[in-house]
Amino acid sequence: MAAAATVRTRSLAGGVVPVALLLLVLCTGSSSAAGQLDVGYYNKTCPAAEEIVRNETAAAVTASPDLAAALLRLHYHDCFVQGCDASVLLDSTPNNTAERDAKPNGSLRGFDVVARVKDRLEQACPGTVSCADILALMARDAVSLAKGPSWPVALGRRDGRISSAGSCGELPPLHGDVGLMVQAFAAKGLDLKDLVVLSGAHTLGKAHCSSYADRLYASAGCSTPDPALDARYADRLRMRCTSPYADDNSTTTTELDPGSSDTFDTSYYRHVARRRGLLRSDASLLDHRFTRAYVLQAASGRYDGHFYHDFAVSMAKMAAIGVLTGDQGEIRRKCNVVN
Ligand SMILES: *[C@@H]1O[C@H](CO)[C@@H](O)[C@H](O)[C@H]1NC(C)=O
Ligand SMILES: *[C@@H]1O[C@H](CO)[C@@H](O)[C@H](O)[C@H]1NC(C)=O
Ligand SMILES: *[C@@H]1O[C@H](CO)[C@@H](O)[C@H](O)[C@H]1NC(C)=O
Ligand SMILES: *[C@@H]1O[C@H](CO)[C@@H](O)[C@H](O)[C@H]1NC(C)=O
Ligand SMILES: *[C@@H]1O[C@H](CO)[C@@H](O)[C@H](O)[C@H]1NC(C)=O
Repeated sequence: MAAAATVRTRSLAGGVVPVALLLLVLCTGSSSAAGQLDVGYYNKTCPAAEEIVRNETAAAVTASPDLAAALLRLHYHDCFVQGCDASVLLDSTPNNTAERDAKPNGSLRGFDVVARVKDRLEQACPGTVSCADILALMARDAVSLAKGPSWPVALGRRDGRISSAGSCGELPPLHGDVGLMVQAFAAKGLDLKDLVVLSGAHTLGKAHCSSYADRLYASAGCSTPDPALDARYADRLRMRCTSPYADDNSTTTTELDPGSSDTFDTSYYRHVARRRGLLRSDASLLDHRFTRAYVLQAASGRYDGHFYHDFAVSMAKMAAIGVLTGDQGEIRRKCNVVN
């Protein structure tokens, strides 16, 4: 949304459209919080902010390449649950179970790296850079460090004061069919294209057995393994994941994009196209005309540039979901507790 607004304003400033319309657009724009985010937000108050984030993220991802996926995921979880307000980073308190401790918290990781970045930013410019902005910047840097695209991130988010395990129902379900996924995205103002493009984030990272084991075995609910899963691939997965009742404690993980799970590229789409999407939500991208066409196009390997561009656009939309700006929320001093 932020990116689209910028483009529109620029073309209007070119003078093609009457001034009255320009004013109208500006007024509408200023009513939405997303319109208040700005790429140069910290230029004066913390000019080194982006470089500090980039340097710390680079050090962490160089040491453990699989952190790239974890950092991208933290931002995604943050934005889908109650908006991009860093609520995902808050610790539980004696009277409140926070998002990160929700029953299936999907083993979120990277909290320590975020804390390190925050400490350095507090030294450089105390009380200035929000944890929500840090997550947005780290996600962008993680993708580019994994050899993916980079893009300007609009900044100025503020941090929320509430984090509730109960809100995690807003996350798109890993077991969802394409209809449920479309609904979960639409509820956040994201469309079919955002769905298939942001699913491409599964070019990075791994999944626990518990998130796909039900596709491998006949069970009470399903009398056969998931027919949408390539049979030979399913055989291999059953060797890793030996029971349909795998629990989240299992340490067995499987790459979502086998062979290049630390590199941001389009091979994820090739796996999905060959019916080797690991999660039901990945596989279900073949079940809708639009998302299927996109998967097949990206899988051809001839549209990497298009995908990178699309990914940057959809990330900017996601990063503007339900943001707090102006005098809303606060700038946390530590990302895991409210001030
Ligand atoms: C902020 O700084 C960046 C990089 O130095 C520059 O590209 C951008 O135009 C600046 N934005 C504003 C609003 O000053
Ligand atoms: C970031 O890293 C570069 C290269 O190591 C270094 O020259 C620069 O001073 C660092 N910047 C900050 C703000 O730490
Ligand atoms: C938890 O208790 C503290 C102190 O009594 C209170 O300030 C806070 O609002 C409570 N949080 C919730 C979610 O009830
Ligand atoms: C996930 O939740 C469990 C409890 O359900 C908790 O022990 C664990 O620390 C949480 N993981 C993270 C990364 O917060
Ligand atoms: C998983 O771990 C949690 C906490 O460590 C424990 O309470 C739970 O019983 C374990 N689940 C299984 C199925 O072993």
